[in-house]
Formats: sequence, structure tokens, C-alpha cells
Amino acid sequence: MIAELETGTLAVVTGGARGIGLAVIRMLTRERVGVVCIDTSEADGSEFLSITQDAGVPGYFLPVDVRRRDDVFTALDKAATIGRVRYAVNCAGVDSVGPSEQVSTQDWSRVLDIDLTGLFYCCQAEHLAMREQGGSIVNVASMSGHIINRGAPAHAAYSAAKAGVIQVSKALGVEWVEDRVRVNSISPGYVRTALTANNPPEMNAEFAAHTPLGRMAEVGEIAAPIMFLLSDAAAYITATDLAVDGGYLAW
Ligand SMILES: NC(=O)c1ccc[n+]([C@@H]2O[C@H](COP(=O)([O-])OP(=O)(O)OC[C@H]3O[C@@H](n4cnc5c(N)ncnc54)[C@H](O)[C@@H]3O)[C@@H](O)[C@H]2O)c1
Repeated sequence: MIAELETGTLAVVTGGARGIGLAVIRMLTRERVGVVCIDTSEADGSEFLSITQDAGVPGYFLPVDVRRRDDVFTALDKAATIGRVRYAVNCAGVDSVGPSEQVSTQDWSRVLDIDLTGLFYCCQAEHLAMREQGGSIVNVASMSGHIINRGAPAHAAYSAAKAGVIQVSKALGVEWVEDRVRVNSISPGYVRTALTANNPPEMNAEFAAHTPLGRMAEVGEIAAPIMFLLSDAAAYITATDLAVDGGYLAW
């Protein structure tokens, strides 16, 4: 058991159809927490549904683009009718790769709108659903919000968005103490997911070489510290960022 969570309650996970979000969902269901998964209408929710079904906990897949504020609020309203929302993990995100001199307004806005503004809408709606009973929100930032990635093509929009996620999480963590809603962010290093699977192998090898632990992370190694931040074991932790980067930021 990674962390003891309140059973019979509900967690909202955005971007939960795959990757880090799906790994968190696996761990939540082991703790008997029901899950509302928010992802795009193109995402395949079947793996999520089979995980919740196998665990025998409530599982609802809501196709929502986090850029659409009204839809995000409608989804959280629905979640609040299903159960007591105590936990939220905001994983929905996209990467940007490309030399900055070639980045269009559309490319720039897509990353900022999903990774930062959409995440902010989710936090707003999650706070509304939690403020009666209190809760814990974990936002997935990135070490790219702290440093510029060595050996990767420019991705200024992603770095800007993730630095924003770290600061937004701190601001909300402080603002919402009265409502007993803790807000933290987590900054993963390089993780083996679909986001990094398409990188040329030599790029991923270079990422591993630049990491003191000498390898990329598995999704479960990011999900476990997220579970800790959600749980009461982290009751005195709010408005902070936790680097889970294999030591990358130390070099
Ligand atoms: N993989 C890594 O190396 C790594 C490192 C640091 C941070 N992160 C961050 O972790 C989070 C999860 O990444 P992952 O590697 O699991 O990626 P992933 O691509 O496997 O999962 C991201 C999910 O977000 C969903 N999504 C994208 N746009 C959306 C939108 N507009 N509305 C709703 N859902 C949307 C996708 O459909 C997908 O299911 C992201 O925020 C990413 O930036 C990843």
C-alpha cells in the first residue's frame, strides 16, 4: 500500500486514458477510490473502464477537452453528483517540439491553452466540488518548468506552461487553505510513456545518460509520489513542487 486514502470517495483524473494518469488510476482503485476520468473524445477509455470494473469501484469516463471551461465545470458538477470528490490529479497535457523561430501562434496557444489554462480551469472546478469536505489536488508539471532540457529540440511553450503550472499550484495552495484544499505540483523527469516513445532512441539514451539514476522513469514511479501527495500522509504539504526526476535537477 502506497498511501491510505479515504475509501468510498471519488478522484478526478484528467488525461487519465493512458500514461501517468492511467498509472495513478490503477493505484487509486487499489485503495477503493472511485474515479472520474476526463480525457479527449478521441482518447480510448477502454483500459480505464476495465481497470475500474476489475477493481469493482465506480468508474466514469467523461470526454472533455480541458480547454473548454464550461465543459470542465459541467463534468465536475456531474462528478459531485456521483460521489464526494476528495482527490484530483491533473495530467492532461501535450508537448511542443520545434525551433522557436518557427513556432506559430496556433502551436504556442495549443500548448499554453491545454497545459496551463486548461489545468487552471480544472483546478477551479475541482475546488468547487471539494470545498465542502476539503481535498487534495496534484498538478503534473515537469522538470522542464525548472530547467531547459539538454539534448532536446527547443520547446519553449512547454517549458513556459510547466513553469506556470508550478506557480499556479503554489498560488492556489495558499489561496485555498481556508477550504482545506491542498494544492501541490509534481515535476517528473523523463518518463517512458507515449509522449516520449516517439523520440529517436538516441535522444532517449541521452536523456537517461543525463539523469543521475541513469535511466528514464516508469509511470508507477511517478504515480506513487502522486498518491503520497493526495493522501493524509502529506497533510502538512501544500503549495509546493516535488521533483521526481532521478536526480536530474541536481546536475
Ligand atoms: N512522459 C514524460 O516524460 C513526462 C515528463 C514530465 C511531465 N510529463 C507530464 O505528465 C502529464 C502526462 O503525460 P504522459 O507522459 O502520461 O502523456 P500521455 O500523452 O501518455 O497522456 C496525456 C493524456 O492527456 C490527454 N489530453 C491531451 N490533451 C487534452 C485535452 N485538451 N483535454 C483533455 N485531455 C487531454 C491525452 O489524450 C492523453 O490521454 C503531462 O502533463 C506531461 O506534460 C510527462
